[in-house]
Amino acid sequence: MLITVDRSSGAPVYQQIRDGIVALIKAGTLNPGDKLPGTRELATQLEVSRKTVLQAYLELAADSWVETHPGSCTYVLDRAALTGAAAYSVPAPAAVDHGRPDGDDADIQQMDWSPYQITAKFFGQPQYRMNWQGEDEWINFSRAIPDAKLFPFERIKKVSSQLLWDPQAFFFDYGNPQGYMPLLEYIEMQLAKEGVVLGEDTDLVICSGFQLSLSLLVTMLLKPGDSVAIEEPTFNSILNLVKARNIPYRGIPMEHDGMDVDYLERTLAKDKPRLIITIPTLHNPTGVNMSLEKRRRVIELAQRHNVPIIEDTWSMLLGHDGKHEPSLKALDGGAHVIQIGSFSKCFLPGTRVAWVALPAAMGMSFLKAKRAMDRSDSYFLQTIVNEFIKKGFMELHLRKMERIYRGRRELMDELMRAHFPSEVSWKKPAGGFSYWVGLPEPLNSRALLKEALKVGVEFAPGNYFYVSGRDTNYFRLAFSTLTQPQIRQGIKRLGKVLKRVVKGGLPDDGGGE
Ligand SMILES: Cc1ncc(COP(=O)(O)O)c(C=O)c1O
Repeated sequence: MLITVDRSSGAPVYQQIRDGIVALIKAGTLNPGDKLPGTRELATQLEVSRKTVLQAYLELAADSWVETHPGSCTYVLDRAALTGAAAYSVPAPAAVDHGRPDGDDADIQQMDWSPYQITAKFFGQPQYRMNWQGEDEWINFSRAIPDAKLFPFERIKKVSSQLLWDPQAFFFDYGNPQGYMPLLEYIEMQLAKEGVVLGEDTDLVICSGFQLSLSLLVTMLLKPGDSVAIEEPTFNSILNLVKARNIPYRGIPMEHDGMDVDYLERTLAKDKPRLIITIPTLHNPTGVNMSLEKRRRVIELAQRHNVPIIEDTWSMLLGHDGKHEPSLKALDGGAHVIQIGSFSKCFLPGTRVAWVALPAAMGMSFLKAKRAMDRSDSYFLQTIVNEFIKKGFMELHLRKMERIYRGRRELMDELMRAHFPSEVSWKKPAGGFSYWVGLPEPLNSRALLKEALKVGVEFAPGNYFYVSGRDTNYFRLAFSTLTQPQIRQGIKRLGKVLKRVVKGGLPDDGGGE
C-alpha cells in the first residue's frame, strides 16, 4: 500500500497513516470491500510500531472509513451507502424502473408540491440595504429586536464553560417537558411580582419561544374554519402565523388606550371568533398600553362569550416607566387568559426560551400537544439561562438594557422634536424598542419609505402590520439596535425627507399590496 510517513512533518504518525489511507480511498485506489493489510504487516512496511497502525485503524473505524471484522481483518466500508449519500442519486421518478410485472412505470408522477406552498406574503426581509451605494452609513430603524452588540458574551462564556466543566447528563437528555425546574421557579417568582400566582388554577410551562408557543396554542384552540380576533395593526409574526395557516381573522382597530373594545364586542356577537390575541402592554407596533378599564372589559367579554384570550407579555422582564396596568392574566385569575412571555427581547433570542402561564385545566393537554410537536426543548440552553440568573447576572443585564434602551428612546424623542415637521405625530411609549409615527393624511408610509431609502434610511412601514398589507399613514421607527450617533444621523436624514414630503407630497407609487 502506497503510504509514506514523514517523521519531520510534526504530524503524529498514526494520523499520517490514517490520512494516507483516506486519500487512497478517495482516489479510488482502495474500494469498498477491499481488505487492508494486517497491522503487523503494515507496521513492518512503514517501520513503525504495530500500536501506531492499530491507532490509525481505530480512527478510520471511528469515522466509518473501515470496519474491523471479528477475525481482525479490516475492510474498506461503502461510506456512500452508510451515509445515505446513495439516496441522492435516485433517478427522477419517470425514469425509475420499479420492476412492475406489466412493465408499466410510465404513470408514476413527479410529486406535485404546489398545493402545499405558502403563498401569503410575509413582510420584513427587504433587500434594499444590499444595494445601497451611498457614502453615508445605512441606518436601519426597522428592527425592533435586542441589540446583539450588547449581548453579555463574557458572562455567558463564563457560565457555559463552568457548566461544561462538570457536565451533567441531564443537560443533554430529553428534559422534563414542563421545563427545567429551577428556571420555572425563577419565572414563577417574576410572575408573582406581576400578580400572577401559580397554583390550583394556573400552570406554567417553558416552551421554545413565543412563536412556537402561539403556534401550539392556535393548533389546540382552533378547529378548521374557526376565526381569531387580532388587534390591527399587530406584531407581524402573529400575522405570519395567521396567514401561513389560512386562519380567518377579524381585525380589531387599535385606539390610543388599547383595542376598540366596542368593536370587539360587536365582532364577538356577530362573527363569533374562537380566540382573542392581544398585546395589552407596550403593544407592538403602536407602543400603546391598554387602559385598566379596557382590560377589564376584554376579560368580561371573553368570559361572556366563553372565548380564550392569548396575552403576549413580551416586555415583562424589560421594565417600563412608571406604573403599568396589571396583566390580563393577573386580572382574570386564571380562567380565560393564557399568557406567553419570552426571554427573546431581553436576553438571547436564539436560546428560544419562553413560557406559557395557562389555566390548570388545560395544562396537561398543552404538555401533550407540546410533546407531540417537539420531543423536548433544549435543556442545556435552559440551564445556561438559569445559571446566568443564579449568578445574579440577569438582574444586572436587565437593568443595564433598560437604561440603554431608555437612553435611546429619550434621544429619539428629543431628535424627532428637533428635526421632524410639526405635522408628524407620535407619542413617547412607556418602554420598548420603537415609536409609532403618524404622517399627515393622505401621505402613506410605504411611499415615504421609498424616499427614505434614497438617503440610506430604512424603517418598517405601517402596512407590514396589517394582515391585508393595506397602506397606512403610520410607520414604526425602532431604535433598539442603533447607537446614539446612528440615531442622530438617521433622524436628521429622515427629518429632511419628511419636511420635503409634508410640503410637496409624495409621488404616487401605484398603490399598495
Ligand atoms: C410583540 C412580540 N411578542 C413576542 C416576541 C418574542 O418572540 P419569540 O419568543 O418568538 O422570539 C417579540 C419579538 O420580536 C415581539 O415583538
